[in-house]
Amino acid sequence: MDQALSNNIVLNVSNLKKSFGDFHILAGADLDLKEKQNIVILGHSGTGKSVLFKCIVRLIEPDSGGINVLGQDILALEDEKLTELRIKIGYVFQGGALYDSMSVRSNLEFPLKYTKGAKRTQAELNELVEEALVNVGLIESIDKMPSELSGGMMKRIGLARTLIQKPNILLYDEPTTGLDPVTSGEISELILKIQEEYNTSSLIISHDLKCIEITANQVNVLKEGKFTASGTLDEMKHHEDPFVNSFFK
Ligand SMILES: Nc1ncnc2c1ncn2[C@@H]1O[C@H](COP(=O)(O)OP(=O)(O)OP(=O)(O)O)[C@@H](O)[C@H]1O
Ligand SMILES: [Mg+2]
Repeated sequence: MDQALSNNIVLNVSNLKKSFGDFHILAGADLDLKEKQNIVILGHSGTGKSVLFKCIVRLIEPDSGGINVLGQDILALEDEKLTELRIKIGYVFQGGALYDSMSVRSNLEFPLKYTKGAKRTQAELNELVEEALVNVGLIESIDKMPSELSGGMMKRIGLARTLIQKPNILLYDEPTTGLDPVTSGEISELILKIQEEYNTSSLIISHDLKCIEITANQVNVLKEGKFTASGTLDEMKHHEDPFVNSFFK
């Protein structure tokens, strides 16, 4: 059995490096995500948090290092095998990334219609779309256009569209940024509920303390292209490195 899977590790990033020209963004990043774990990634703006996510799904090719997803070396996969594995990784983009010209219903149907092997009847599509919308508490918005949604609603719909693929691993890029504290709390509770109901594992990029408090079982700090500290939120708050505890002041 694969070493990574035998320890309940669903995602392993090892010695990952990525430069853009002379800018060394990721400089040997290591990370293990275990089953049912929610890890929050903290790091200053521009340190490569989003680049890390993009490398994990191979929207960006890393220069060197390893990425193992659910026991498979994703960097070695191509075509269909890569697509199959990507479906198991739900990437929740900042802002939701909905198609403006499509209704909520069509936005949610889209990934189901265009993934391989998914020949579903309209009745099956309706059922899946409705289930996903009920899950995020927005079934009444099914026929709305994205322009009719608030920022918080758009984030929820973005989440519903990711969940509809039933991913094993979720990557949330700043899921609560730009939202008021109440909506931000609701989205964070939703992230927790999703983890508990679907037994997913998540990486969450966030510097929103409330979101971290609600969702994180572990916090990892990215500094100069490497993860330099990890532990519980409480351990991070009292960490000896002033760089680490500065995030909580
Ligand atoms: N495709 C690209 N080409 C060139 N440079 C890039 C590319 N993508 C990202 N970068 C650079 O890599 C660095 C890290 O970007 P990244 O988006 O990962 O930052 P971040 O940690 O997510 O920051 P923020 O908290 O502001 O979202 C930045 O300097 C950015 O300009
Ligand atoms: Mg970013």
